[in-house]
Amino acid sequence: MNDLLLRACRREAVERPPVWMMRQAGRYLPEYRKVRERADFLTMVGTPELAVEVTLQPVDILGVDAAIIFSDILVVPQAMGMRLSVDDSTGPRFHQPLRTPAEFAGLRPLVPEEGLGYVLEAIRLARRELEDRVPLIGFAGAPWTLASYMIEGGGSKNFALAKRLLVEDPGRAHGLLSRLAKAVGTFLKAQVAAGAQAVQLFDSWAGSLAPSDYERSVRPWSARVLADLPVPSIHFGVGTGELLTSMRDAGGDAIGVDWRVPLDRAWERIGADRAIQGNLDPSVCVASWDAVERAATEVLGRAEMRDGHVFNLGHGVLPYTPVENLQRLVDLVHERTAR
Ligand code: CP3
Repeated sequence: MNDLLLRACRREAVERPPVWMMRQAGRYLPEYRKVRERADFLTMVGTPELAVEVTLQPVDILGVDAAIIFSDILVVPQAMGMRLSVDDSTGPRFHQPLRTPAEFAGLRPLVPEEGLGYVLEAIRLARRELEDRVPLIGFAGAPWTLASYMIEGGGSKNFALAKRLLVEDPGRAHGLLSRLAKAVGTFLKAQVAAGAQAVQLFDSWAGSLAPSDYERSVRPWSARVLADLPVPSIHFGVGTGELLTSMRDAGGDAIGVDWRVPLDRAWERIGADRAIQGNLDPSVCVASWDAVERAATEVLGRAEMRDGHVFNLGHGVLPYTPVENLQRLVDLVHERTAR
């Protein structure tokens, strides 16, 4: 099996760094759009056969070194009882965001096999269809990112409502974060039992916080999720330049970084005893191949072929990205770095 990703996360010797891309199964792929014509996003996520079909597409089309199960971080709050819809123009929305104490108290505890059995089934099916070609990554949203979404009801510019709860009613905020930490930890372990060979924790909105607030209110819950996972874990956030040492302290065999910090500087902050994932700017991938090549060469140069680099974008693939750019990018990482 191509187990480069697993070895890189553990900082074992690799012939070359593994490469995969967040949101590698998405609307930029004509083959994805074709499935999406027949089913809306949440139906795709909820139907194991469709989820597995698009999970495998980037493995076949791009030649990436890992698959990530096709799902969404918001299935966890949905399974805890929140009504979710995903609209093409506005993105995901909860119909009734958490506002009143009764709404917080009304959340159900998560039993993965019951509420999220379809994700676990998709993982089992994907493993069978992958036939060990590349490892399969499971994932979940981190407590803070999920809590913000549940409180705000959708995407947000400044997360004012979620942050207000942290300072005005820390008891209620911590109650929610602690329930989410339990749910997410249980879910990730269930994904591993179903066949996920590595897991990624998405704390996409960690970068919205002041470092002291992150350390006080968020880090302990992410640490709880990342403790005692039986497979390699990747701890990812966006805009986390100043949080990198804190995120490292929370846990993760590899720390994921966006493009706002040069990879070598990020690695210095994280420390040589952890792996790093990143950090090509996804916007560059929409530009000409020359620009992609230049930016990828810079990332590879800063990684200096050290063991423990997982090549990835700094955030998800954007919808208008030319497929050919990503195919050439995977080839470039494979060719430039073969030892
Ligand atoms: O990486 C992968 O290929 C696996 C699948 C995956 C999706 N969402 C599919 C998806 C993963 C790992 C996610 C995680 C996720 N979802 C995050 C954390 C990562 C990040 O991007 O910061 C967040 C914040 C969400 C919530 C979410 N789901 C948003 C904000 C959106 C709308 C954005 C958009 O591109 O339209 C979604 C919908 C979504 N999740 C799509 C995909 C492929 C687009 C659905 C479609 O229109 O087909």
